[in-house]
Amino acid sequence: MEVVIVKDKAAQGELVAAAVARLVGEKPDALLGVATGSTPLPVYEALAALVAGGLDVSRLRVCQLDEYVGLPAGHPESYREVVRKEVVQRLGLPAGSFLGPDGGAGDIVAACAAYERVLAEAGGVDLQILGVGTDGHIGFNEPCSSLASRTRIKTLTEQTRVDNARFFGDDLSQVPQHVITQGIGTILEARHLVLLATGEGKAEAVAATVEGPLSALVPASALQLHPHATVVVDEAAASRLK
Ligand code: F6R
Repeated sequence: MEVVIVKDKAAQGELVAAAVARLVGEKPDALLGVATGSTPLPVYEALAALVAGGLDVSRLRVCQLDEYVGLPAGHPESYREVVRKEVVQRLGLPAGSFLGPDGGAGDIVAACAAYERVLAEAGGVDLQILGVGTDGHIGFNEPCSSLASRTRIKTLTEQTRVDNARFFGDDLSQVPQHVITQGIGTILEARHLVLLATGEGKAEAVAATVEGPLSALVPASALQLHPHATVVVDEAAASRLK
């Protein structure tokens, strides 16, 4: 695993956007896995600036990492809508270039299996952008998730619901209880994993991710198993590294 310590969020965004630009140069129809949440937003902003400067992303495809279950279609905090707004529209990607699980499906188990098939048929994820939860989750694989898990329905921990209440007007009752998430085994199949973290609040999770031990108690520590994983952190998030 390589660890890159950057000055701030803007530098983090530029570094990762440059990696995506290199990927697109080599493989114009690459499949980019996009996390939601606050951390990756500077990456999408920096990528949009590269597109404005001439980077051709007309064949780039993007796919979701996870999704809330049960939000009404078009809810602004559904990850489908967030990715549409923050990535697809911002980069000017065609609507058909966007893959995601159906959090509103009547049969969620079938929707999870269907998303696994969609990702496989799309040729797999080339570069997966990941954030990390304060409890070490990736996607919505909370602590104790199997390191071999596949896309499935999960119940969010209280801590994650509290962390995400800021997106729902600080009203915990509005934060869904359930999500669909790519499993850790699914995530590990991406060809390149890029995990981002900023701020002191993520320092503990970053140290456990990078320095181990490998443990289902810290889902992000599964990156230690991956042959091409890059962790990009600011100094505050790196502050507990030995
Ligand atoms: C969201 C996701 C989550 C977030 C994590 C950190 O798609 O997969 O694992 O990356 O909860 O969220 P932020 O970046 O908001 O601190």
